[in-house]
Amino acid sequence: MNNYNNEINKRRTFAIISHPDAGKTTLTEKFLLFGGAIQTAGAVKSNKIKKHATSDFMEIERQRGISVATSVMSFEYRGILINLLDTPGHKDFAEDTYRTLTAVDSVILVIDSVNGVEAQTRRLMEVCRMRNTPVIVFINKMDRDGKNRFDLLEEIEKELNIQLHPMTWPINSGKDFKGVYNLYDKDLVLFTANTKATDEDTVKIDNLESSLLEERLGEKDAATLREDVELVDGVHGQLNVGNYLEGKVAPVFFGSAINNFGVREMLDTFIRVAPEPRSRETSIRHLDVHEDKFSGFVFKIHANLDPKHRDRIAFLRVCSGKFERNKYFHHVRLDKDVRFSNPYTFLARDKDVIEAAYPGDVVGLFDTGNFKIGDTLTEGEDLYFTGIPSFSPEIFKEVVNKDPMKTKQLEKGLLQLTDEGVAQLFTQYGGNKKIIGCVGELQFEVIQYRLLHEYGASVQFNAMPFYKACWITSKDPRKLEDFTRFKHANIAEDKDGYVVYLAQSEWFLNTERTNNPEIEFHFTSEIHK
Ligand code: G4P
Repeated sequence: MNNYNNEINKRRTFAIISHPDAGKTTLTEKFLLFGGAIQTAGAVKSNKIKKHATSDFMEIERQRGISVATSVMSFEYRGILINLLDTPGHKDFAEDTYRTLTAVDSVILVIDSVNGVEAQTRRLMEVCRMRNTPVIVFINKMDRDGKNRFDLLEEIEKELNIQLHPMTWPINSGKDFKGVYNLYDKDLVLFTANTKATDEDTVKIDNLESSLLEERLGEKDAATLREDVELVDGVHGQLNVGNYLEGKVAPVFFGSAINNFGVREMLDTFIRVAPEPRSRETSIRHLDVHEDKFSGFVFKIHANLDPKHRDRIAFLRVCSGKFERNKYFHHVRLDKDVRFSNPYTFLARDKDVIEAAYPGDVVGLFDTGNFKIGDTLTEGEDLYFTGIPSFSPEIFKEVVNKDPMKTKQLEKGLLQLTDEGVAQLFTQYGGNKKIIGCVGELQFEVIQYRLLHEYGASVQFNAMPFYKACWITSKDPRKLEDFTRFKHANIAEDKDGYVVYLAQSEWFLNTERTNNPEIEFHFTSEIHK
């Protein structure tokens, strides 16, 4: 046991995830307003990558640059210190989001009541499920004519493969939306647009038979609510917090972020049930969050494209002990001791240099190229945190060197950029073909630009007909060897020397899987095995 228990107990580190446009930014803003971290609505908007800027990556980078300041938003609410990690909404930066999910202890998933489960929602939830991350669901935009509430819950349960537990229940939607009934506190919260919910809008309903329901909602809606609640309560009963913490059950709230409705109920539940900073697995042992000695890992590196500010920031999540300014820590991969004179925390208004940070906190470290994703700092022990996967890219292109005089610079540039996690690098078997894999087209533009401006290397990309990279293993080394020989045109090595099968299509992949049962195909690869 250590001295930091109080610090650990009062921290909650989480992310809000959603398909773009479901309302993540709006909800973030309302949280910050509750936490007193911002005073006016609209303050978070600059963080958002504009939907129409998809072809202009410099503009997107400029906006991402702004977003560094809001990458982590720390605020206090009812004595709890909340670290909210921002995730980019733009799908081309999905890898960034996946990695950020390795640094949080829980998530809030926002779903648009009109659109239901969308593509990005599915993929983000897959990542959460891999890690058994506890999830709270916020069904947003109840002020719009959305799907039937029962159908929507069924869709979410089925598509996201998680059991839902409604905590509030909506009374209609769209222009007839009247508010929610809080199944937990047994009160009715009446909907008022664009105002902070006040106590007058909350009506205590101890008994659902009470005529107060008719008074406030009218006959028809009162009757529907009674029926609904009977149904829902019958099925769900009390929330089992243990099941939520194991990622098996997700509490659900209905609301309207833009109207600041239903947000406080969720935040209050969040601070009550969401996990404190959790213990983690490492390459050598289980690491308890309460241990005395400091440890932490880098989950994201942000490079600034602006030539006037050529700085990189490594985001370090503290996993145990106390991080201190100017204290020497052990950089495990480089096997050297490093210290930081200007580490900063992210308060919503501005960056602040900090003296100390505790488990659950995220520290920004100025970096001159010493870090890569997954790097660990400790007080001397050689360990790596596990559960920081690389995901299969979706677009593959061959790198063609246009200036043979700059081959060295190109190689260095490719290594550094892939260390930062901008893209993944593969080398085709039996040749020297370098293949870059990314989640979005935008990354290729970023890479081309940065190789030229930072390393003086000029490249061109040739599209390759692959759709997925699968890391392959087999219990029988001979089978693996045979497979890689027969399929050499589709085989590559990743940066760490692991063998990868590049599939042209789902059909090819399924065929190979059927034909080669002794080969295992993995869609993710652990950075540290
Ligand atoms: P994102 O970060 O998940 O991409 O979504 P964001 O919060 O930016 O919200 C997307 C759009 O949905 C915004 O409108 C926002 O105002 C709207 N919105 C958010 N919550 C609600 C809600 O509860 N009800 C309704 N009706 N709309 C909501 P926009 O027109 O795209 O942007 P803006 O012009 O308002 O900035």
